[in-house]
Amino acid sequence: MSDKGHRGERVDESGPLIKDMMEARGSKVVEYAVVPDEKVVISAILARWADRGDIDLILTNGGTGLGPRDNTPEATLAVVDRLVPGLAEAMRTESYKKTPAGILSRGVAGLRRRTLIINLPGSPKAVKECLEAILPAIPHAIEMTKGEAAECASRTDLHYQGK
Ligand code: MTE
Repeated sequence: MSDKGHRGERVDESGPLIKDMMEARGSKVVEYAVVPDEKVVISAILARWADRGDIDLILTNGGTGLGPRDNTPEATLAVVDRLVPGLAEAMRTESYKKTPAGILSRGVAGLRRRTLIINLPGSPKAVKECLEAILPAIPHAIEMTKGEAAECASRTDLHYQGK
């Protein structure tokens, strides 16, 4: 989400980084858009993509701060049915270890039907740090949204080493 990006006044570096990080984990990226910081516009595109039924995960980027045009969390809250607070909590916890400004992202995460929507902060550094914090939990999250989850206890990827 970026007014400047949408007007072509800023090159999006974080979008391609998200794409690279997700593809490195085996995800297929099927949509990409640079959207102005307009609440109704953001909500509309999130709802449209989620309602297609073939998108498991939407990662938004930017517009989570305290600025007058930071509308991404409110736009997301307007379209999700259920919150997944732990994802945002983990991102802020890990971010605060890297920078005091880490707690200034108001990003949220939630489900619209079977699509998980997660707000990431805007900068490439923040994207990398936040995605790394939550990516290990994403495959299981997506399985659960589809009702396909195996027993959590049997998933070795969810166990921290030695536990
Ligand atoms: N989180 C991490 N991990 N690393 C960062 O550098 N930057 C913060 C914060 N979260 C940052 C971070 C800053 S400076 C801001 S203003 C907020 O995210 C909101 O960013 P956004 O408005 O671009 O979404």
